[in-house]
Amino acid sequence: MKLEDTLMNLVSKLNPRVVALLEKRLKKIPAFKKKIDQQSDEVMGDLESSVRPYKNRFHTFTELPQTGRARGEILREMEIMSKEEEPHWKEGFLSGAVYHGDQEHIDFLNQVYALNSQSNPLHADVWKSTTKFEAEIVAMTADMLGGAGTDVCGTLSSGGTEGIMLAMKTYRDWARDTKRITKPEMIVPVTAHAAFDKASQYFKIKMVHVPIDENYRADVNAVKKAITRNTVVIVGSAPSFPHGAIDPIAEMSELARAKNIGFHVDACLGGFVLPWAEKLGYPIPKFDFRLPGVTSISADTHKYGYAAKGTSVILYRNPELRHYQYYTTTEWPGGLYFSPTFAGSRPGALSAACWAALTSIGVDGYMSATKKILETAEKIKQGIREIPELRVLGDPLFVVAFDSGALNIYKVLDTMSRKKWSLNGLHKPTCVHLCVTLRHTQEGVAERFLADLREAVEHVKAHPEEKGSMAPVYGMAATIPMRGLVSDILKKYLDVIFKA
Ligand SMILES: Cc1ncc(COP(=O)(O)O)c(C=O)c1O
Repeated sequence: MKLEDTLMNLVSKLNPRVVALLEKRLKKIPAFKKKIDQQSDEVMGDLESSVRPYKNRFHTFTELPQTGRARGEILREMEIMSKEEEPHWKEGFLSGAVYHGDQEHIDFLNQVYALNSQSNPLHADVWKSTTKFEAEIVAMTADMLGGAGTDVCGTLSSGGTEGIMLAMKTYRDWARDTKRITKPEMIVPVTAHAAFDKASQYFKIKMVHVPIDENYRADVNAVKKAITRNTVVIVGSAPSFPHGAIDPIAEMSELARAKNIGFHVDACLGGFVLPWAEKLGYPIPKFDFRLPGVTSISADTHKYGYAAKGTSVILYRNPELRHYQYYTTTEWPGGLYFSPTFAGSRPGALSAACWAALTSIGVDGYMSATKKILETAEKIKQGIREIPELRVLGDPLFVVAFDSGALNIYKVLDTMSRKKWSLNGLHKPTCVHLCVTLRHTQEGVAERFLADLREAVEHVKAHPEEKGSMAPVYGMAATIPMRGLVSDILKKYLDVIFKA
């Protein structure tokens, strides 16, 4: 066995903490580095061809054309690409991603976008219509999430990640100002979205992860134990991205309230589903501003709000808290400057399209969409439970995660990919999920999914020797004990994405 293989073998047997300590040194050993580079280059080579299918069919621009191209030619090329990509999402092969997608709805939003394409809410004095739209989107969302008749307020953001990051920054600054906390900590279930980790890194808030219980919900006792004098915020998901589980928000937010700690509900996925599910009679635990301990909620209009991509709502219990989100400067030679979120200029047309989506759909529209989605999810859960090799994780509503005791679930994922399905591969624990959207409520889609899944399971059983394409990547990410190394591989993947 070669030295680098021996080292790799050794590393895989070590305690992860020891590995983290050793990692930097190991990467300096040329033979070891070469081995790792070789392995990741192999994987990247395969990925590069899959993310650049147009390479040999259309001109690649690495510099501006000297004379502008004809608009018609540009549109024709885009139409070809769009036509090729459209069936994949339109026919319901994606998990999440496109939440509505009916042509009439898309055409309407496009019309609204075209009417407002020049709008920039940074100039509130010019685009007064956009300011109206944004204020009303916030008000309607607050009303839907238990904020009617209270001081609940908020802003628009560009998506769930931005909303979450804004909230975490807000709690850091609030706690520094009102409680003199200079070493802030956030308590976050391991299943909460990666955006919380991003916020922890960006804003230097110590991440205190808490485990989940056997139902994939945050462990309330662990939350209780994790609270310190430096805790600025506790987080719960309604529901979580990986397993679609709703954390025990009532209990967790009470712990926060008793100690005057902020409590953020990540309802990016569920914000525009759970209120309607409750009205439809599903047993939905309270998760919103009706709970006194809840101090902020993020809810994505660009998911189940059925707006175009690029909008989300971040709500706060009161305007005092919201003030810690805002940015103002009085000393800049460019004049007095203030903005509610991270961006400066913003696409007002997206806010207009969001307002148009909310008001054109209305309560009845959301209720009927939610009913269809939940009934389809039920059919899918039932179908998966009938496949003996598979197991649904927890008791989810519309994000259905499943694993297998008998088979490598990543190979099932790979086989499903060959049948056009884009499901999400998850780890810790190893599983796969389908986030059910309106696309899956079209006639025959759930049945096609289940038939393909049954076939995929049979295929993997019959061909244990097949390696698959993504299975090794997921496998590698799950087994490499050096997290820094996995990060390096992900960065290389991003390099590939931005390579013309
Ligand atoms: C629960 C949850 N929170 C946050 C996010 C982040 O949202 P976005 O991708 O819009 O930034 C997601 C995205 O899927 C999510 O499912």
